[in-house]
Amino acid sequence: MSWLVTGGAGYIGSHVVYETLRSGRNVVVLDDLSTGIKSRLPSELAFEEVTLTDRESVFGVFNRHSISGVLHLAAKKQVAESVLRPDYYWQENVIGLQNLVDAMNANDVKNFVFSSSAAVYGSPDLPFETQITETTNCMPINPYGETKLEGEHIAESCAENFGFKVASLRYFNVAGAGRPELGDQFIFNLVPIVLEALQNGQQPKVFGDDYDTPDGSCIRDYVHVQDLAEAHVAAMQFVENSNATFMPINIGTGKGSSVFEVINKISDVTGIDIEPLHVDKREGDPAALVADVSRAHEILEWSSSCTLDDIIQTAWDAWQKSH
Ligand code: WQD
Repeated sequence: MSWLVTGGAGYIGSHVVYETLRSGRNVVVLDDLSTGIKSRLPSELAFEEVTLTDRESVFGVFNRHSISGVLHLAAKKQVAESVLRPDYYWQENVIGLQNLVDAMNANDVKNFVFSSSAAVYGSPDLPFETQITETTNCMPINPYGETKLEGEHIAESCAENFGFKVASLRYFNVAGAGRPELGDQFIFNLVPIVLEALQNGQQPKVFGDDYDTPDGSCIRDYVHVQDLAEAHVAAMQFVENSNATFMPINIGTGKGSSVFEVINKISDVTGIDIEPLHVDKREGDPAALVADVSRAHEILEWSSSCTLDDIIQTAWDAWQKSH
């Protein structure tokens, strides 16, 4: 029996594959390689180049492999792109998920770990020091977040109607690298954006410096991708030993870091002086998004161990290796 890891050739997915293998479980990877990189993975690993919108091919994977559970990470995740192409995001993230859970149900596979996102919370209008719990009202403010919340609704329905055992992991801001060759190759989030700016001799931009936060810049909960991967193994353990359930769980550190703090940390680690440009706020950015991680501690017996230093150092090591 194997765990199927969709999106397993991705930045986060590849870290999750290695941790799943390290836990002693067998793995089959499903990835359409639209953004995944197959060479990240052990060459001997069972690999299915399939897109989840191809329903027949998804069912074929379950006919060729004996699947005991699914870690579902394959999705489109660029907020800005989702605003421009909401239909594409709905097709990929929601229709693709529906095909996957239908194939699971047809094969009596009930163990399900779903890659969700703090984006489901939208912009909670809370004081910056307030940590977000899983019972916080979910009001996504972009199509990406909407598709992740709809995915949770589908997974919850599968738990109620088909006995699925679901852990829905709401990722906060993921960064860093578990090993230099697994760095984030895409420039869509703060840390790689700043590293690319430094490489190009440009000034990183700070989107807004007059938020209601201690230094005026936005606060986020940056969690190391390696810690996140280990949370997935804890989630597999949880669903394997659970009755039918749908359990959303925040995956973060519980600590906030401001944009200025992250940029200063990057300057310390790289040894490069940085004079960021202060520009206008970005539409839709909440002042702060920091996870309350008590449910992850209680239910998964998991907590993050890496610091912001570890995140930036490993991101820099990976950046230097690939640039
Ligand atoms: C972080 C902070 C920006 C770039 C994203 C998406 C989604 C989700 C989590 C998976 C914000 C600021 C950024 C820059 C800046 N991933 N910033 N200058 O928006 O918190 O969330 O990651 O689910 O990808 O929801 O992440 O990295 O874009 O921004 O000042 O050049 O850095 O305003 O406060 P975000 P981000």
